[in-house]
Formats: sequence, C-alpha cells, structure tokens
Amino acid sequence: REEKIQLLKDNIGAIQDFPIKGILFRDIFTIFLEPKILQACIDIMIDTVKECSKDIGGIVGLDARGFLFGPSIALALKVPFIPVRKAGKLPGETIKESYDLEYGSNTVEIQKNSIKPGQRLLIVDDLLATGGTLKAACNLIEKVGGITDSCLVLIELTALKGRENVPSKVVSLIKYDD
Ligand code: PRP
Repeated sequence: REEKIQLLKDNIGAIQDFPIKGILFRDIFTIFLEPKILQACIDIMIDTVKECSKDIGGIVGLDARGFLFGPSIALALKVPFIPVRKAGKLPGETIKESYDLEYGSNTVEIQKNSIKPGQRLLIVDDLLATGGTLKAACNLIEKVGGITDSCLVLIELTALKGRENVPSKVVSLIKYDD
C-alpha cells in the first residue's frame, strides 16, 4: 500500500506560479495519463473506503474533480453516486450553501431528492486546501437529511489546516506541507 501511495505521489505534477504567482499547483491529471497509475489510485481509494468507513449508502462527489473518482468508488461499493455542483448547474429543486474564499465567495448545491433521509454518505474530492468546499458539502448533506460518515481526498495541503474546518472525519492519501 505504501508503495502504491508513493507511486501516486511521484506522479502528481507540481507547477510553480499557477494559477497565480506564489502558488505551487498540484496537478492530478498527470495520474490519468498512465492507466496503471490511475488504476492504482482508484484501487487505493476503494480499499481505503472499505477499511475506514462502514455502511456507506452513497458517494457524494464534488464538482469538478471529485467526479473523476466518485463514480468508480460508488460502483465498487454498489451504491449511488450523488453530485454536489457549483451553483446554477443542477436542474430541479436544489439546496444551496455559500462559503467564503480568500477573495469573494463560492456557492455549491445539491438536488433535494438525491439523498434519502438518514442515508450515510462518503464525500470524495481530489484535494483539501482550506476545507471550505468540504465543509459546505457536509452542510448541504445535513440540510437534505443525510449523514456524512467521512470525507476522502487524494491530496491534503496540511499547512492550511483545512481539516480543522470540516465537521466530519477526513481521510487523505497524500499529504504535502508546502
Ligand atoms: C479545488 C479542489 C477542491 C477545492 C479545495 O476545486 O478541487 O474542490 O478547490 O479547496 P478548499 O479546501 O480551499 O475549499 P476548485 O474550486 O478549484 O474547482 P474545480 O475542481 O472545478 O477546478
């Protein structure tokens, strides 16, 4: 397992000064260029969910890069996949949650009928930075009557202490402190 995680770490791109000067951008799409590495990534995510979480009744994926992993995990567990999207993208009745960014704010939403009362959910995304997005997703799930079991991310930027903002257990596979 440690070997596979190291393989992933070795294959995540790092681009200096993107999208703005001073930011070291972690590029997960380099993983997707190599089927074997993508397979290792999905396998580790599925194994981690099976080990760390019990009685998961659905996978909630976050727009956009949570959508790359969520459906594969949902298929492995034979449970539904439910999207949380940036505002204005989902049809029908939705519930919204806004959160602050360094400059300005962001709004995410979920379809009201996508979750059953008491459904136990795992949230998946590519990366945890400040935790604002995961926190908003947890709040949305609570508002529609679901229960967040835990959150799974591929990458955690530990220096930002984002997990302290998330009202649920957070499991990360790869940690960077810069
Ligand atoms: C990135 C990332 C997470 C979020 C993490 O998404 O994919 O969803 O930011 O940041 P936070 O912990 O500070 O909330 P982004 O908003 O860039 O959207 P994208 O996936 O559509 O590119």
